[in-house]
Amino acid sequence: MDYKTLAAAALEAMEMSYSPYSHFRVGAALLTKSGKIYKGCNIESAAYSPTNCAERTALFKAVSEGEREFAAIAVAGAPKGGEPQYCYPCGVCRQMLKEFFRDDCEVLVVKTADDYKVHTLGEILPFGFGAENLR
Ligand code: THU
Repeated sequence: MDYKTLAAAALEAMEMSYSPYSHFRVGAALLTKSGKIYKGCNIESAAYSPTNCAERTALFKAVSEGEREFAAIAVAGAPKGGEPQYCYPCGVCRQMLKEFFRDDCEVLVVKTADDYKVHTLGEILPFGFGAENLR
């Protein structure tokens, strides 16, 4: 899979953002090992805390469709009316990604389909707590 396609899908997903309170739009595109892409956006609530980040929306869509094996996720975020910035997953999303990602799965932060940075989950969540700790 060409990461340009995945980066473009994250930017597309950002267009669907429901963010009337923060006015910060986020989109995510999650790539399964079989090559399928699941998109998600942030969905806010007037009560604030029920808000769901774009990364978790994409992950929950995929997992609830039976997907378990992932290769990468791309994230794009921008203030309403502004340009996308390198938007890194929040701590809660990093932890949720750890549930299904190996440490070498890739996390892209996207400005444009051609301008993105690639990290691994292990890089952005070092010394994480996971299922292996409970064995
Ligand atoms: N947000 C995401 O969707 N993903 C992140 O990783 C960072 C934050 C959303 C949550 C909220 O709707 C808005 O960005 C501002 O925090």
